[in-house]
Amino acid sequence: MEDWSARQYLKFEDERTRPPRDLLAQVPLTQPRLVVDLGCGPGNSTELLVERYPQSEIIGLDSSPDMLRKARERLPKYKFIEADIATWSPPPGADLLFSNAVMQWLPDHPAIMRRLLESLAPGGVLAVQLPDNTREAGLVAQAEVGRSGPWADHPEVKAAPRGDLPTIEQYYDLLKPVSSHIDVWHSHYNHVMASPAAIVEWFKGSSLQPFLSPLSAADREKFLAAYSQKIAAAYKPRVDGKVLLRFPRLFILAVR
Ligand SMILES: C[S@@+](CC[C@H](N)C(=O)[O-])C[C@H]1O[C@@H](n2cnc3c(N)ncnc32)[C@H](O)[C@@H]1O
Repeated sequence: MEDWSARQYLKFEDERTRPPRDLLAQVPLTQPRLVVDLGCGPGNSTELLVERYPQSEIIGLDSSPDMLRKARERLPKYKFIEADIATWSPPPGADLLFSNAVMQWLPDHPAIMRRLLESLAPGGVLAVQLPDNTREAGLVAQAEVGRSGPWADHPEVKAAPRGDLPTIEQYYDLLKPVSSHIDVWHSHYNHVMASPAAIVEWFKGSSLQPFLSPLSAADREKFLAAYSQKIAAAYKPRVDGKVLLRFPRLFILAVR
């Protein structure tokens, strides 16, 4: 994964922070000892953890120096570490591993989720939210533009489209043998966006990054122009001129 632009990501902070709030509301712990925010980004999800658990030790972890810099500015009293979730293991005492909008980027993330869950003591919680939007117009259009421009044969662009998530049953069968309790649900958010251009801005902070980062500045412009056309065709203005960005998300909460 290329470095993320924290500034671009935070343009839609309110909307992006709603799913971690909804996930955290279901965590059945009153005072965990150590909480780790896996893929903490610019610290927006970490801040929710700090508010909910003021007495707990809370650590943010991310692989992006840009995100970590922003997170440290936001929560200077807290510890943030640079690490790759794929190889990281929780220290003893970790009671809550929280991961919002991150796991979808990791190859074979279900196996990583199982490994992390297995490493917790009984009663420890793994709480994960993943975007489940690969069939939505916004993502379908990214893959279409990726296949149809002068960049079509670029290996990084070819690898950029995210595959569908595994099925609910696959997650359940993998995690249940190491969970005392498991809760899996979907929420479909409908974000009210000012215009189709705002939807392009939204995805520039997330799923467009793997398509855009390997391109030259000129190709980036061309890619965005083609993508913007498709977005304008797919997301029609509502009665007030705004557009609705439908966003299905998958939530998995497993107790060791
Ligand atoms: C979409 S942001 C989520 C930020 C925040 N958790 C939130 O709730 O808004 C995804 C974050 O995961 C980080 N990330 C992606 N792959 C990672 C990995 N293998 N290890 C650690 N962090 C990773 C990215 O750098 C980025 O900050």
